[in-house]
Amino acid sequence: MMTTPYYLIDERKLLRNLKIIRRVRFLSGAKSLLALKCFATWAVFPLMRKYMDGTTSSSLFEARLGHEKFGGETHAYSVGYSREDVRAVSKFADKVIFNSISQLEAHCDLVKGLKLGLRVNPGFSYSHYDLADPARKYSRLGVINKAELMRASSLISGVMFHFNCENDDLENFSKNLGRISREYSSLLKKLEWVSLGGGLAFAKQGYPLEKFCKRLKQFSEEFGVQVYLEPGEAAITRCAELVTTVLDVVHNEIDIAIVDASIEAHMLDHLIYRTSPRISSPGQGKFKIMIAGRSCLAGDVFGQYCLNKKLKRGDIMRIADAAGYTMVKKNWFNGLSMPSIVVKRLNGTLEKVRSFGYKDYIASLS
Ligand SMILES: Cc1ncc(COP(=O)(O)O)c(C=O)c1O
Repeated sequence: MMTTPYYLIDERKLLRNLKIIRRVRFLSGAKSLLALKCFATWAVFPLMRKYMDGTTSSSLFEARLGHEKFGGETHAYSVGYSREDVRAVSKFADKVIFNSISQLEAHCDLVKGLKLGLRVNPGFSYSHYDLADPARKYSRLGVINKAELMRASSLISGVMFHFNCENDDLENFSKNLGRISREYSSLLKKLEWVSLGGGLAFAKQGYPLEKFCKRLKQFSEEFGVQVYLEPGEAAITRCAELVTTVLDVVHNEIDIAIVDASIEAHMLDHLIYRTSPRISSPGQGKFKIMIAGRSCLAGDVFGQYCLNKKLKRGDIMRIADAAGYTMVKKNWFNGLSMPSIVVKRLNGTLEKVRSFGYKDYIASLS
């Protein structure tokens, strides 16, 4: 028995997504780079690297992790590089992607011989959340001015457009890709590669994968470019759980189960976006209960659920979809014990790949 709390990554479920990624590569020619901002648990990289082409990053450390632990192609993007960052990243990155023309011009002398790119803000996007909308008002993410982009085009070999967030609507994606094709056609014709970023829910059940691949291929052929995708969520969706134990059940008009984890510390995105995770076990039923975390934050609440049993102290509670934007964002708020990381390997064995203790907590402070 593993001690809770722990994140449990199931490699067989991961494999399901990875096979979809491989199929996209086969049918469309688009390469897929894992977006480390979403998932960087390198214990499963030996499996992932067989199906993906490399990694993309948002910082020097992520880029280095991608290079050292994943291998393949390393795309290094940052919203703001210092000269030291660029010097360091240039030692191992295959492509360095700048967020602005001023960053490109300030640092291109340090990255001679490397493939360079610029992030472009096309001015539109698909996102349900303002917080995650790269085209939001006053967005600092990417170059907007098309004339300046054309002027800088001699310095770059590719561009990155990230304009989706949890987009499962192929028609919308296709329409927006058409807009990009029209609005940037003279630039795209000069380039070798185009990254279409992440946020595409192509691993979702029922997603029209063949049509998606056809569309990507058409785009790639129209401009003679290598297309890249940067899946984060699509690579790891539905492959992990946060396994917790109920510590107490209190009552304040409703029953409230307190578990040995915290939404604030261990599944922060749900708190930020005001969403509730699914519970994978116990299953659904008629017993109403609120599931809450054990930090002292009043709003440390996973959600309200109807479960098939009345929860009591000692029960195991499994929270679904705990891979993306969880382990990369976990924190030491309240000094709560941090969930360990357990991998269920393809052969079914459980391997605890990391546990955290008091030493890690004090080492994170001084
Ligand atoms: C530039 C870029 N690429 C890739 C991703 C990964 O997106 P997702 O995890 O939604 O696929 C993001 C997410 O914010 C991003 O900003």
